[in-house]
Amino acid sequence: MASSSSSFLASLLIFLSVFRNFNACNASSQGGLGFSMNLIHRDSPRSPHYQTSVTSEDRVRAMIDRSLSRARHISSIISGTSDMASDDDSDGYSGGGGVYTSIASSPSSSPPAPAPAPAPSNIQSKVIPNNNGDYLMELEVGTPPVKIVAIADTGSDLVWIQCRPCKQCYNQKDPIFDPSKSSTFNGSAVSCSDDICLAITTSFCNKNRCDYDYEYADGSATFGTLVKDTFTFSSDSNKTSSIPGIVFGCSDNSSGSFDANGDGLIGLGGGIPSLVSQLDSSIHGKFSYCLVPYIENTTSTLNLGDNAVVNGPGLVTIPMDRRATFYIMKLQSVVVGNDTIPNLSLDTNIIVDSGTTITFIPNSTLTKLIDGISKMVNLTRTKDPQNYFSLCYSYSANAPLYPFPDITFTFNKPPHDPASLVLTPMQAFLQVSDDVLCLAMQDKNQVGISIFGNVAQQNMHVGYDLHSNLLSFAPANCSKF
Ligand SMILES: *[C@@H]1O[C@H](CO)[C@@H](O)[C@H](O)[C@H]1NC(C)=O
Ligand SMILES: *[C@@H]1O[C@H](CO)[C@@H](O)[C@H](O)[C@H]1NC(C)=O
Ligand SMILES: *[C@@H]1O[C@H](CO)[C@@H](O)[C@H](O)[C@H]1NC(C)=O
Ligand SMILES: *[C@@H]1O[C@H](CO)[C@@H](O)[C@H](O)[C@H]1NC(C)=O
Ligand SMILES: *[C@@H]1O[C@H](CO)[C@@H](O)[C@H](O)[C@H]1NC(C)=O
Ligand SMILES: *[C@@H]1O[C@H](CO)[C@@H](O)[C@H](O)[C@H]1NC(C)=O
Ligand SMILES: *[C@@H]1O[C@H](CO)[C@@H](O)[C@H](O)[C@H]1NC(C)=O
Ligand SMILES: *[C@@H]1O[C@H](CO)[C@@H](O)[C@H](O)[C@H]1NC(C)=O
Ligand SMILES: *[C@@H]1O[C@H](CO)[C@@H](O)[C@H](O)[C@H]1NC(C)=O
Repeated sequence: MASSSSSFLASLLIFLSVFRNFNACNASSQGGLGFSMNLIHRDSPRSPHYQTSVTSEDRVRAMIDRSLSRARHISSIISGTSDMASDDDSDGYSGGGGVYTSIASSPSSSPPAPAPAPAPSNIQSKVIPNNNGDYLMELEVGTPPVKIVAIADTGSDLVWIQCRPCKQCYNQKDPIFDPSKSSTFNGSAVSCSDDICLAITTSFCNKNRCDYDYEYADGSATFGTLVKDTFTFSSDSNKTSSIPGIVFGCSDNSSGSFDANGDGLIGLGGGIPSLVSQLDSSIHGKFSYCLVPYIENTTSTLNLGDNAVVNGPGLVTIPMDRRATFYIMKLQSVVVGNDTIPNLSLDTNIIVDSGTTITFIPNSTLTKLIDGISKMVNLTRTKDPQNYFSLCYSYSANAPLYPFPDITFTFNKPPHDPASLVLTPMQAFLQVSDDVLCLAMQDKNQVGISIFGNVAQQNMHVGYDLHSNLLSFAPANCSKF
């Protein structure tokens, strides 16, 4: 279980691309939809972004950069204040309502201003920072269906793609979607009083059509109109599911640092405009993913509906709180090894995010964790070559397995019983260079919010149930999933 082989430890940025006909899932045909799509980690050999010339150090540097940028952005949205950085063990935000208002600016490509905390180090990236989430998914839009590859993001809600006729589109590898060729396209179906239009604060009414204007912190921007068309998702066994009337943004004027590998963005957050909210009744409010460590030349999986049921040995179910886009758990303790009694008084909100690599936890908790690991691990401590992570060991990527202790995260708040999620070394450590291994967790003061990042979630089947507001985690070998 404590498999700490290099191939699992070096998991960084995730990019997810969805291809069809991959997974052997048992889609039931009991009225609900069940389908699965493939996802590719950004730095996986399968990724369209994969560059053999980029060193693992460069990938780690870019990963740190993106994690900080994204986490700060999420923090700025959810807190509504910028002075949380010094508030060590608070949950990082207060109040519940009204946070939806900033969603429209969420697909950002650079840190928001003001950042809640100063940049911790002199990190520079050779890869363009991208904090939209590190995954791509493939689906089809229109009739006949046209392939779209888009970023899948649990941290935002709007669904948008580039559409013809372009006023000013960025270059994309796939042909730009042409509504005039789709018999099911309806460009005037979303009125200004539509719930989805109202939920997007940067929308405005233009001849009773709902236009939107997304501007990004780095100067990137996308403008468009909310429209409706049929979306087609590939399932297993060459089956497809076509769903009419999905509301999405047809963007005809975008500029800035958008990526040619993505034709748009698919919001999977909990807000009204997101794909999962729109599909809610047909997928019974369920989606899940299983992320492989990026270094493996294998795809990850995104499941919707009947395929998104998480079970199996080691299943842990945790109630989630939802604040607009975000999915939140109550973290009570983090302990190392198996004979420490958890101190269940942390009571901090922690966002589960598929697009942030690093896990951010309160300073005092991290300090105790590092102390505990140091006492149990008999390896030479070393400095992070990136000068970022706090706990690193000299450890060769090719070294025999070292029995690192497990780390247990305990969640929930009464009346719910505490629920514990055990992270194996593969889910806690990152091979940051050929001979240095670091704990992939940092002080939440750097970003203003606690985040359960995607290294911690790899090789787990992670399920979201938006009807019963439950998150489920079960250990899995995601490359076999
Ligand atoms: C990844 O796997 C694919 C398909 O199995 C193969 O064609 C490709 O060469 C592999 N890439 C690397 C870098 O191993
Ligand atoms: C596109 O958007 C930019 C703002 O980013 C604006 O200045 C420009 O006029 C727009 N172009 C067209 C053709 O509407
Ligand atoms: C588009 O949607 C609107 C509003 O639902 C409807 O009135 C109109 O008939 C639709 N147009 C087409 C071409 O389907
Ligand atoms: C899926 O389609 C491919 C190519 O059309 C075909 O070779 C394969 O047998 C099909 N698989 C199933 C399970 O129907
Ligand atoms: C954890 O428990 C296992 C089995 O009970 C035991 O073998 C192992 O030594 C324990 N580890 C620590 C660090 O106490
Ligand atoms: C548990 O944690 C709280 C807050 O960090 C601290 O005040 C308390 O002393 C801790 N209790 C124990 C038994 O360590
Ligand atoms: C905890 O906060 C202090 C003060 O900001 C900082 O110096 C220290 O590095 C932090 N600890 C960890 C483990 O990040
Ligand atoms: C740590 O490793 C050294 C060298 O292998 C060994 O001599 C020592 O006993 C080990 N200490 C513990 C606590 O395992
Ligand atoms: C997962 O399955 C693959 C393929 O069978 C295997 O190579 C790999 O070692 C497994 N990973 C783990 C963590 O068990």
